[in-house]
Amino acid sequence: MPDTPIKTEILIHDLKVPISVIDAGAKSLLNRQDAYGPLTDKQIKVLKRIIRNTLTSQRLVNDVLELGRSREGVMNYSDFTVSSLVRAVLVEVFDLADPNAAEIIRKVQDYDELLGAVRQVGVKLKFTKATWESVVRQDAAKVRQILRNLATNALKHRVEQIEIQGNLKERRLVLRVRDDGRGIAPSDHQKIFKTYFTTGGSIENAICSHGLGLAGVMVLLKDMGGDMALESDRGKGAEFIVKIPV
Ligand SMILES: Nc1ncnc2c1ncn2[C@@H]1O[C@H](COP(=O)(O)OP(=O)(O)OP(=O)(O)O)[C@@H](O)[C@H]1O
Ligand SMILES: [Mg+2]
Repeated sequence: MPDTPIKTEILIHDLKVPISVIDAGAKSLLNRQDAYGPLTDKQIKVLKRIIRNTLTSQRLVNDVLELGRSREGVMNYSDFTVSSLVRAVLVEVFDLADPNAAEIIRKVQDYDELLGAVRQVGVKLKFTKATWESVVRQDAAKVRQILRNLATNALKHRVEQIEIQGNLKERRLVLRVRDDGRGIAPSDHQKIFKTYFTTGGSIENAICSHGLGLAGVMVLLKDMGGDMALESDRGKGAEFIVKIPV
């Protein structure tokens, strides 16, 4: 059935509209209490949860569509700075995990100030000034999706903090994302890159882990001619290193 993947993607694409309607409705109730009536604290909490989950749904939809484009070899090149990439990913990640932190990250302009702000929420940034300010040419949405997936995983599994490091070397952007969590046993190193593989066992894990992130990262990297390495052992944290030609 050669046309099946396209139909699925159209279906996924069409989810965008209903998700936006749910999002807009919830935001109206929350932000226009003058028009829609006052809310209790409990109602506000529920609405905020709805809005967070519509954002997650929008991400999933966009990520799947981006993967589809990658499989078709569609690239959308643009020039962007390393700083804008990292900043956008941090905002995306914290929009869900800690909206107050996301707000601060959005506002702070200066690198040193940003360093201090993200430190408070357990993220250590390691970039030289030259790398931070460098302009690179690549498919920005794809690079963002890669870094966001690695950062989300690291934050999910960290004990205290994660570290994001970046370097430009021989026309390659090398990004390292490290956490201090439970690590990954060598016997699982290959498996985690496979679709739907998760190491978690509980029902809760089954709900928030799709096992799609890293498999998607591999698809995107392959498309761009990049690669990924993993350094980790059980109990010793994990470090994912991606090299992306720019
Ligand atoms: N930093 C990490 N530390 C420990 N285990 C990790 C880390 N990153 C990934 N893993 C393991 O690899 C598995 C696959 O990761 P992947 O990102 O593909 O899926 P996921 O995070 O479970 O779900 P999602 O589809 O939402 O990304 C995870 O379930 C987890 O067991
Ligand atoms: Mg993941």
